[in-house]
Amino acid sequence: MTKLTKFIAGFGGIFLLVGCAAKDPRDTGVEYAPQMYHAIPLEPYSQMDYYPYTPDGKHLIAPVAGTVARGKADYVYPFPNTNEGYEEAGKKLKNPLPRTPENIAEGKRLYGLYCIHCHGEKGDGQGTIVQAGKFPPPPSYYGPQLKDLPEGKMFHTITYGKNLMGSHASQLTPEERWKVILYVQELRAAGLAEVEKAAKDQKPVETTQKNTNPKKPS
Ligand code: HEC
Repeated sequence: MTKLTKFIAGFGGIFLLVGCAAKDPRDTGVEYAPQMYHAIPLEPYSQMDYYPYTPDGKHLIAPVAGTVARGKADYVYPFPNTNEGYEEAGKKLKNPLPRTPENIAEGKRLYGLYCIHCHGEKGDGQGTIVQAGKFPPPPSYYGPQLKDLPEGKMFHTITYGKNLMGSHASQLTPEERWKVILYVQELRAAGLAEVEKAAKDQKPVETTQKNTNPKKPS
């Protein structure tokens, strides 16, 4: 190789390198064989502009309709979060678990973790945050509004939430929801028995909205 060709080759090499370097440090410059860097499958957090099927330039692509989250494949709740779905659930949804002492005890434990601060120890809507004046009292389980509530509607409400009550679907598996419902029904039966007894004794019993905390003035 002559001196001149070495010189030209050397210059040419430097020229090429400088030519590829981009001014913006975030710019990758000219990419040699881009398919080596950009996988053909979709990469959730990468820039998508070079995929022809995302013309809106979205980086995160929503899952395909009907996609089931990992670990939830065994359960898809069939009733939509609408009034019709609520009514349907009330008619069709039945508790698959037997009313055993174990299931009720587990329901009671879960109720103590997730529900008691609003609904109260007896289910009368006098939980601690209600007593503290931080939250309006939920209806009593054995008051006129809920005393005949079917279990399917309970499940629907625990799953989606209702007005001021949030969804508990992420805290409770479907089985745990049914266990907690067994316990809610126990509370309701106990409350109704008390109301009935009081009616016999001609003594009125408060079912809702009463401040029973002796330390807190009403
Ligand atoms: C943040 C307070 C709060 C928590 C926590 C809470 N609830 Fe509620 N709950 C409410 C309120 C308020 C309502 C009344 C909703 C309405 O009808 O507007 C309600 C309503 C209900 C109803 C009646 C549903 C219906 O269809 O009318 C049931 C049953 C119930 N809750 C059970 C539970 C259970 C079980 C838990 C625990 C897993 C729980 N709630 C946790 C506040 C709460």
